[in-house]
Amino acid sequence: MPDPLPARFASTEESRAAWWRDAVVYQIYPRSFADSNGDGIGDLPGITSRVPYLASLGIDAVWLSPFYPSALADGGYDVDDYRDVDPRLGTLHDFDELVAAFHRVDIRVMVDIVPNHSSNRHQWFRDALASPPGSPERARYVFRDGRGEAGELPPSDWPSHFGTSAWTGTQDLDGTPGQWYLHLFSPEQPDFNWDNREVQLDFLTTLRFWADRGVDGFRVDVAHALKKDLSEPLRSKPAFVDFDNPLSGDDVLFDRNEVHSVYREWRTLFDEYDPPRFAVAEAWVRPERRVLYARADGLGQAFNFDLLRADWDAEAFRSVIDQNLEMARESGSSSTWVLSNHDVVRHATRFGLPKGTDLHSWLLSNGVAPALDRSVGLRRARAATMLVLALPGSTYIYQGEELGLAEVADIPADQIQDPIWERTAHTGKGRDGSRVPLPWDPHLPSFGFGTGGAHLPQPAWFADLSVGAQSTVEGSTFEMYREAIAHRTRLHTSDELRWTSGSPSGVLDFERPNGWRSITNLGTEPYRLPELEVILSSGPLSGQFLPPDTTAWMILHGTRANSWTRELPTGS
Ligand code: GLC
Ligand code: CA
Repeated sequence: MPDPLPARFASTEESRAAWWRDAVVYQIYPRSFADSNGDGIGDLPGITSRVPYLASLGIDAVWLSPFYPSALADGGYDVDDYRDVDPRLGTLHDFDELVAAFHRVDIRVMVDIVPNHSSNRHQWFRDALASPPGSPERARYVFRDGRGEAGELPPSDWPSHFGTSAWTGTQDLDGTPGQWYLHLFSPEQPDFNWDNREVQLDFLTTLRFWADRGVDGFRVDVAHALKKDLSEPLRSKPAFVDFDNPLSGDDVLFDRNEVHSVYREWRTLFDEYDPPRFAVAEAWVRPERRVLYARADGLGQAFNFDLLRADWDAEAFRSVIDQNLEMARESGSSSTWVLSNHDVVRHATRFGLPKGTDLHSWLLSNGVAPALDRSVGLRRARAATMLVLALPGSTYIYQGEELGLAEVADIPADQIQDPIWERTAHTGKGRDGSRVPLPWDPHLPSFGFGTGGAHLPQPAWFADLSVGAQSTVEGSTFEMYREAIAHRTRLHTSDELRWTSGSPSGVLDFERPNGWRSITNLGTEPYRLPELEVILSSGPLSGQFLPPDTTAWMILHGTRANSWTRELPTGS
């Protein structure tokens, strides 16, 4: 073992407030994590019972996807009440116990805030339907008269993200056709009117509610959609909503400049706390626009989803890395690295499919065509994970990726829960394949998820990937994550990174302070490693050679903190 290295941060005020800058954050999808009472649905006490597991993984924070009361029209992203817990998942008391249990082991807790839309069961939406056009109750949402002679056509051509129109018609109390309301997602998710002061104030109350309960941070759902151009006549947006690539600044629906006034007000609230509360934006915007969400006077950080779309290709990875480190310098925030989440096909699967595979069609084929090479996928996924853990900034890990879980692509049609399936007339299968309940124990029913089955079917191959099958097994994916996170926590001291010159194309080779070096081989030929001590690799090495699809971390013997940074040319 090399000499002990300095702690990541000296314990100053500043560092206490900046815990998130280089955090490893673990995303929990509560309904699929652990079920404590055998009803087939994961719950808050289930999560609390697994705190030791998460502590042993070495993560800095957890982010909980929504656990609020919900009819689950969209997996809980349809919220009935922002300041309560779904009774199927527990109580507010259970939530307080969960926070306390995480805090006891120094793990921060983040919750998911869904400000763009409520559910159609939210009290305010019920009030809106029961009130006449033009009423203050309706002004909290986006209601408009229909077009056409009898108002039989939607007010505009705006499409919803899950297919078909973003408008749904209502009926007046006497049964005649009434106004239409806007929903960028499913009809059960009516959009709030963010020009309405009551809406703005109510979210401040919600943020305070959770911050006062000890929540350390917030993940902000579709942060780029809150403000829309609602001026009359409504502007046209005929194309299918390009969620991934909206126009900047003056799109009708997305990434409008005014949205940042909302976050400036939130930031003022966050900064009243000690340490200030943290937030990360889910904003599917052009990379250069992400900076606006990540600024210190805004949410403070933004997800970088570029690696969700990158092929297994050294140049693609390298340019994503360079661009994001540059943007972090610009915004004063830190980079984020995301390989998987609850909305995308798991990365152990993506990297095992031929380049350019259309993931939607692949899912529709039940994962049959084109053929998946699961072992290549897992090898690359492990290499990619070690690569991103070696980068400056914070890494978001999605539950199950530490087990190397692949996407479950063959969920039978009659068990699909994602609204995308129905909303697209069965041409899109949706995201359930990444939301299948976790396997904990190879020998127990539901692989230890709970005693009463699992709400989505678990495949037989989950047994070999279960926690029980991997923990303490040398070289398992779970042990690799544990070791990688432990080394990273010890070694990471600053945001500097220097690419090593002279490595062939296909190889990503960089140095960090403390003599820490990370080399990933995305090429097809083995690569000769430098004569340094290997501290961890994502797969077996062949002697001094790094095989394809493998990452190795190396360390310079006897390096001291800062000796490296002094060599940096000034200005870099
Ligand atoms: C975000 C969530 C996704 C949800 C959508 C609507 O993209 O991550 O799961 O369906 O917002 O709330
Ligand atoms: Ca349960």
